[in-house]
Amino acid sequence: MPLPKAELHLHIEGTLEPELAFALAARNGITLPYADTEALRKAYLFDDLQSFLDLYYGLMAVLLTEEDFEELADAYLARAAQQGVRHAEIFFDPQAHMVRGVGIGTVIEGLGRALERSEERHGISTRLIMCFLRDQSAESALETLEAARPHLHRIVGVGLDSAEVGHPPAKFREVYEAAAALGLRRVAHAGEEGPPAYITEALDVLGVERIDHGLRCMEDPELVERLVRERTPLTLCPLSNVRLRAIDVLEEHPLARMMDAGLLCTVNSDDPAYFGGYVDDTFHAVREALGLDQERLRELARNSFEASFLDGSPEDEALRARYIAEVAEYSFD
Ligand code: ADE
Ligand code: ZN
Repeated sequence: MPLPKAELHLHIEGTLEPELAFALAARNGITLPYADTEALRKAYLFDDLQSFLDLYYGLMAVLLTEEDFEELADAYLARAAQQGVRHAEIFFDPQAHMVRGVGIGTVIEGLGRALERSEERHGISTRLIMCFLRDQSAESALETLEAARPHLHRIVGVGLDSAEVGHPPAKFREVYEAAAALGLRRVAHAGEEGPPAYITEALDVLGVERIDHGLRCMEDPELVERLVRERTPLTLCPLSNVRLRAIDVLEEHPLARMMDAGLLCTVNSDDPAYFGGYVDDTFHAVREALGLDQERLRELARNSFEASFLDGSPEDEALRARYIAEVAEYSFD
């Protein structure tokens, strides 16, 4: 049995496996520019974030109906259960679908249908986080939030993703203020490829509670001190960092040093269909590459629940306490 854990940094579109992509393409009468699943997998050689995003957005062409989104999410949850995931906070990119003529209601209701059955079917509690694409305009983000209003009961918070460099967090001040006024929680990708200053800006200007990635905080000791002091969770994605060439090899990943520095680190899979592993695979990989001992792994699992948004009600708190107790009781042999 894998270590119980929460997954807090997971793009649902990044769980689209080649087999499902081809099945959905056939069902929807779409021709993909790859001969077969093997040819598609061979294209998964990325130079950086942008080269990945080009493929990732392109493959979304197969996602058209509520059923497609429901199937995608259900397939992820089934895999996540096998990986010891007990709670998942799942990102989605509505703008990447709306530009293709797929309505935000189709996306959210389709995902929502899978998520509402998740506890019963997969034993996983879930939350949904709507991300704005930072390489689109601030107006587009505001329009997206407005379009999501009939579906906000399905969403716990907002995030910010896509091409980071050149798109600093402050561009999205207004939409984050509007989201906060609607009672939504706030997170943002920062310090993946972008500089440490983007992390500071996400905290100060957008008021985020967690930083997605945050890898590059290690270049700024004062920022590290602040993140430690404020106990700001970082949702790290080590396999993603290697595949997108933020670091050369997993053995050089700063995760262990970050934990030693007192940072509240979590380990996540980001876009597991593309990066060679789901979240427990990632735990195993970092254990091997960085020599993490059992107590470090247990700390990562406990952190994942502590950093989760399971704090909105007494029921949520009770669930979180139960998960944390499962981590404490877990036996590695
Ligand atoms: N969208 C999907 N995965 C992403 C990542 N790792 N960084 C930014 N945007 C993303
Ligand atoms: Zn991400």
